[in-house]
Amino acid sequence: MVKICCIGAGYVGGPTMAVIAVKCPSIEVAVVDISVSRIQAWNSDQLPIYEPGLDEVVKKCRGTNLFFSTDVERHVAEADIVFVSVNTPTKTRGLGAGKAADLTYWESAARMIADVSKSDKIVVEKSTVPVKTAEAIERILTHNSKGIKYQILSNPEFLAEGTAIQDLFNPDRVLIGGRETADGKKAVDALKSVYAHWVPEDRILCTNLWSAELSKLAANAFLAQRISSVNAMSALCEATGADVAQVAHAVGTDSRIGPKFLKASVGFGGSCFQKDILNLVYICECNGLAEVAGYWRQVIKVNDYQKSRFVNRVVSSMFNTVAGKKVAILGFAFKKDTGDTRETAAIDVCKGLIGDKAHLSIFDPQVGEAQIQKDLALNKFEWDHPAHLQPAAAGAAKQVSVVRDAYEAAKGAHAVCVMTEWEEFKGLDYGRIYEGMQKPAFVFDGRNVVDVEKLREIGFIVYSIGKPL
Ligand code: NAD
Ligand code: UGA
Repeated sequence: MVKICCIGAGYVGGPTMAVIAVKCPSIEVAVVDISVSRIQAWNSDQLPIYEPGLDEVVKKCRGTNLFFSTDVERHVAEADIVFVSVNTPTKTRGLGAGKAADLTYWESAARMIADVSKSDKIVVEKSTVPVKTAEAIERILTHNSKGIKYQILSNPEFLAEGTAIQDLFNPDRVLIGGRETADGKKAVDALKSVYAHWVPEDRILCTNLWSAELSKLAANAFLAQRISSVNAMSALCEATGADVAQVAHAVGTDSRIGPKFLKASVGFGGSCFQKDILNLVYICECNGLAEVAGYWRQVIKVNDYQKSRFVNRVVSSMFNTVAGKKVAILGFAFKKDTGDTRETAAIDVCKGLIGDKAHLSIFDPQVGEAQIQKDLALNKFEWDHPAHLQPAAAGAAKQVSVVRDAYEAAKGAHAVCVMTEWEEFKGLDYGRIYEGMQKPAFVFDGRNVVDVEKLREIGFIVYSIGKPL
């Protein structure tokens, strides 16, 4: 029986390994993590992440050929293939702070693999890493190798949260990069044969190591660039009377452009787009490519602009002040169908409104109070660096309450801001919400989910992204 061990039981490690286990009954898969509470949750009925379809997959194979454990060293020692799916956040201090990827967690995982291994291993980069990381990892492993042979592969993950299970079951492609030597090719084939259990062969792309590493950063940069492009257009739409949804549709029907990822919003969030583009910018700078770095940096700048534009719109529409006014925030997750709040646009918008002394009443169907208060208390980039937790923003907590439903959030509020496109926000009884609010009652729709005409008929003043006022 082939044994796989995955270091890191997070949003990527958990779902990807569960899908490998369910599709490959002949493979034993162990997912390990240093976080005891995370592993406990994976072994319970309340999984640590909310992801449609995940419960079912985990229940099918947990205890049979899928195991979650904190016994990191034993499972690594026993494995033939070790995936490393640890977090690779943006550095908060030192060289490259605010841009470069922090590879502390990756390096410590690699050192541990070198320490505990007693047999040859294929080590797979599942985390998103800077191009050329495999070379550094190879050095760490081989300098400690005791005669053990390692093959490093790059196998970046392309799943999106909220659709992780369907993305994993039916990926557009699986990418595997390896050394172009006989041993390298053998390792690529071994990993290929795992995915071949359910992924058609023509969708398994094999490249050299550096192409695979860079393709992941490039893919995220291209995706985020489309959002910033349409968001930049949304500002021009508001200034001219064009409707961004109509423009996006007209542009996206060109088969060379395509319709996906052209939805204007308050800004993209999530743990990866910003971090991976900043990382790309840093790599370009390190390679003396200032113009290329500047091109990609602009994607982040437009995203920041979109968020601050939204805050400015709220404040300026409400007679230039939100001080002491209650504002309902509907949705806090970075997109629907996830409880993940990492880099969610809601954080920057809430902080902006708190800065203008608003009182926020926040509701999200999947995000609890502790997470929201923590997010609003942290400084940029620090959410993934627990050691640097800031005491800060105790003041913010006083201006924020987290409530159990949208109606409670909106009761007595001057404005409602929609931050996440949860389906349930489309079907709310806006007549009831209007009744309970201060007048004039404003809706600022950061996701273009509400029926603008209907809400205006009710009496709301509605602001949507990229739509005529
Ligand atoms: P995560 O923070 O949810 O999970 C990482 C896990 O690794 C944590 O549970 C942490 O405790 C554990 N860990 C860290 N160091 C460890 C060590 N030395 N030994 C054992 N466990 C350790 O992160 P994630 O969202 O799963 O992302 C992981 C990687 O995958 C990142 O590089 C990210 O860029 C990439 N990625 C993420 C997504 C996504 O949708 N979240 C998609 C594609 C790629
Ligand atoms: C993204 C990529 O889609 C994945 O392929 C990649 O594997 C992953 O990053 C990663 O590397 O972490 P994810 O961040 O989970 O996945 O979710 P997306 O669906 O890409 O959404 C990201 C953000 O962009 C969300 O805030 C979403 O609301 C926003 N978005 C997306 C828009 O504003 N408009 C769109 O048209 C699409």
